[in-house]
Amino acid sequence: MENTKNNITDHTTKTEIGKAPALYPSPVTVVGAMADGKPNWLIVGHQGIIGHDHVMVSLAKPHYTNQGIKDTGKLSIAMVDEAMLPKADRAGCVSGSKVDKSELFDYHLNEDGVPVIDEAPLVMACSVENIYETPGFESFICTIDHVYAEEDVLTDSGKIDYRKMKPVLFEMPTYEYLKTGDVIAPCMSFGRDK
Ligand SMILES: Cc1cc2nc3c(=O)[nH]c(=O)nc-3n(C[C@H](O)[C@H](O)[C@H](O)COP(=O)(O)O)c2cc1C
Repeated sequence: MENTKNNITDHTTKTEIGKAPALYPSPVTVVGAMADGKPNWLIVGHQGIIGHDHVMVSLAKPHYTNQGIKDTGKLSIAMVDEAMLPKADRAGCVSGSKVDKSELFDYHLNEDGVPVIDEAPLVMACSVENIYETPGFESFICTIDHVYAEEDVLTDSGKIDYRKMKPVLFEMPTYEYLKTGDVIAPCMSFGRDK
């Protein structure tokens, strides 16, 4: 029976599936930091944009990379394209606490000593401004110090062209990597007053 009082209804086609974070697919990235004097990398699906000048990466507390990030206050975030996906996946299969991942990628250190993956199409070098803790996780709130892009993922006017980069996406429920889709329409082309 339908109860429409206060817009509450017990008639719905949706099934309540519990409290899973449902914001997928998300870009998959490789986060890098200097840990014990060497770069360490891990693959990350849980990151986000905060405002126009901060980003966040959410890491499980036991990961080896976390201590390196906390010691140096710096990390890099590399967007993953299909070409670098096999190595990126490897960075998520083993921990730096057991296996040396420092030579997994060719890299260089930028002027702030942050490891930057050479083969990644786009890398952000960041400073940690804050750490937001939730049970089992440390989410690193970062300011963006530098963004490095390969020429072939830029438009003629120097903007990032994600149609060219084709970032790999991640989704948790089936634990798979997805290809980036086609363009549907320019933003606001549906809703803007004509
Ligand atoms: C596709 C994929 C996405 C992942 N996303 C995250 C993530 O968002 N946060 C996290 O803490 N770990 C994530 N992981 C797990 C870490 O990448 C993995 O445990 C890694 O080996 C930790 O490395 P470290 O101990 O050297 O830091 C993910 C793993 C895979 C395969």
